[in-house]
Amino acid sequence: MARILVGVSGGIAAYKAVELVRLATGAGHAVRVVQTPASLQFVGRATFEGVTGAPVLVEEFERDPARGAYPGDPAPSHDPISHLELVRQADLFCVAPASANTLAKLAHGLADNLLTSAALACTAPLVVAPAMNNHMYEHPATRDNLAVLRARGATIVEPDTGRLASRGERGVGRLADPALILETLEGLLGKAGGPMDGLHVLVSAGGTREPIDSVRYVGNRSSGRMGLALAGQAARRGAEVTLVAANVTLPAPAGVRLIEVETAAELLEATRAAFADADVLLMAAAVADFRPSEALDEKISKSGRDGLALALEPTEDVLAALAAQRAPGQTLVGFAAEHGAGAVERGRAKLERKGLDAVVVNDISRAEVGFDAPDNEVTIVTSDAERHVALGSKESVAAAILDAVERLRTTSPDASTVEGEL
Ligand code: CTP
Repeated sequence: MARILVGVSGGIAAYKAVELVRLATGAGHAVRVVQTPASLQFVGRATFEGVTGAPVLVEEFERDPARGAYPGDPAPSHDPISHLELVRQADLFCVAPASANTLAKLAHGLADNLLTSAALACTAPLVVAPAMNNHMYEHPATRDNLAVLRARGATIVEPDTGRLASRGERGVGRLADPALILETLEGLLGKAGGPMDGLHVLVSAGGTREPIDSVRYVGNRSSGRMGLALAGQAARRGAEVTLVAANVTLPAPAGVRLIEVETAAELLEATRAAFADADVLLMAAAVADFRPSEALDEKISKSGRDGLALALEPTEDVLAALAAQRAPGQTLVGFAAEHGAGAVERGRAKLERKGLDAVVVNDISRAEVGFDAPDNEVTIVTSDAERHVALGSKESVAAAILDAVERLRTTSPDASTVEGEL
């Protein structure tokens, strides 16, 4: 159970904040709500008061009948300053929906209403779930404001793409699903004490692109879904997560440090920089094995050619390079996309050749699993076991992989030495 302060700003999505608050109270959290004056145009205080069982504050100089206490807590004997006491008690402050105006105020430190003053006084983690018209969301001013908040450590729950409130409009800007927002909040709240608390997990995801000329590249079909699922699961288990994403267009999970790369060489550089400090490496990216020996700065024209031969040169094997530098206590997991019979045996050969703790083998000869599919079915190969994970969502497969990593870390002699030293 946590004390969650929810800030509701003005937008049609304010009605979805009711669902968020309902889900959060239903999950056993003590929730208080502050609203901006504009949000009252969309949802009245009585709705949130009914769901939380606590007064809702809007104005900065308004008396709080609960004196800053959260449901279930005794009210203090004195009468504290409302916005200061509410944030002092909060384990987390979630602004949902965050309008473009409120986002701008949060980014620039304005404190012209109760919600923004509370945010400025708040030392608990801040989660922001934007919702607005797609043009407002894509405006450079909003993008910059989000970047400022993100750089300051706020967690942004990206809006969905789809039908927007104004008639006939579609695009990005719909408030994320309230269940997903709550999951993000619980992920952050659960960090301390989670099974991976204190671990740094480095995940690579997506597929590299190797330039042929200024517009074309040699690439692969990886969407990054498996790596994103691993990063999200590890963050929810309390790990500090660095995600090196190669050309991934899907949104990164909340609470992870994202480094975007394009080529195998950039991926090598980014993972190498983060690896020294990592406890676990999950190498889910599909890294090009070869790149054009020469990438032209201009676009190759077809005129005057009856064909084009590309000369390719090998790229460095990132995983093998990192494995060669591994320190005691690090757990390294590779992925092997294999075709048909003998897949597990080839995966085991990779485990040995690259010096890994586990290889996750998936059989890409099957259409329903693997590249760009929402589901996966894998075999986790370790030095002494093979564990088949039945067909399921990439989230559930990610959970099984992290279970295997946790098992490896509790049983490996390296890990116990490291624990013994602490
Ligand atoms: N990998 C890597 N750097 C590369 C190529 C692959 O780090 N240049 C990593 C992948 O991220 C994955 C694993 O190595 O974790 C895959 O092993 P690999 O032997 O490269 O698989 P394939 O590319 O399928 O190799 P092969 O053609 O030998 O089957």
